[in-house]
Amino acid sequence: MNTNAEATGKTPEQPPHPLLHSYYDDEAGRHRFLRRIFDETAADYDRIERVLALGSGPWYRRMALQRAGLASGQHMLDVGIGTGLVAREALTILGGQGRVVGVDPSPGMMGQVDLPGVELLPGRAEALPCADAAFDFVCMGYALRHVGDVAAAFAEFRRVLRPGGRVLVLEISKPASAAATWLLKAYMRALVPLISRAIGCRRDSARLWRYYWDTIEACIPPPRILAALQEAGFTQVQRHVELGIFSEYTATRPQE
Ligand SMILES: C[S@@+](CC[C@H](N)C(=O)[O-])C[C@H]1O[C@@H](n2cnc3c(N)ncnc32)[C@H](O)[C@@H]1O
Repeated sequence: MNTNAEATGKTPEQPPHPLLHSYYDDEAGRHRFLRRIFDETAADYDRIERVLALGSGPWYRRMALQRAGLASGQHMLDVGIGTGLVAREALTILGGQGRVVGVDPSPGMMGQVDLPGVELLPGRAEALPCADAAFDFVCMGYALRHVGDVAAAFAEFRRVLRPGGRVLVLEISKPASAAATWLLKAYMRALVPLISRAIGCRRDSARLWRYYWDTIEACIPPPRILAALQEAGFTQVQRHVELGIFSEYTATRPQE
């Protein structure tokens, strides 16, 4: 099993974005910030997501899982399971056959998961608490910007997938045009925080949405994410985009 950069003190090979100094000053501070903000806003997450998440709701997650090839009877790992929004849709597709395991570092987020039969494990993408070749399908929904090292996370996805298994990474990407970027920034940095306060969410939930935008803006570009999947040894590496911002990265662990 891999060890992660935090445990080894190694410099991350490929951070998803540089340190964002208005939130933290080093990697340990980034971990503390994320843990606190996800734990403290967990109870608001589904409400904000339902009202404001630009359509990236249950229907979209289900379509993306189907497009990537999730099928009845498979064993799936949901990395960064959060409150279970991806896992819930996976269970619908699996239809009582197969199994879903969720991994997340935030006890607060996992405490919101209400999905009988889903096994929950504390952990991080960069050092998954799972056996080699244990899954047919690995999904990570909107958590790639929060890992310490994209290269370590993808190496772990490959390790826990059986040969022929599929990976799906869902992310929001910065739009191609300056006008669309400005609109999305205004939406996520100003409007969503305002509405989240108006519907009674915690102050930190507004801050989390501002942070989301800042990580989207600073995130490594899609070609770098595709290259990292290739460098991790995946084949059939592809990116499908919906509405210019919803990126679905898919890849296959080759047969040995
Ligand atoms: C925006 S939420 C996404 C939750 C869910 N996948 C969804 O689609 O709604 C991001 C989740 O990633 C988790 N996370 C943060 N750092 C992580 C890491 N290094 N590895 C895995 N998950 C992480 C957070 O605790 C949080 O629950």
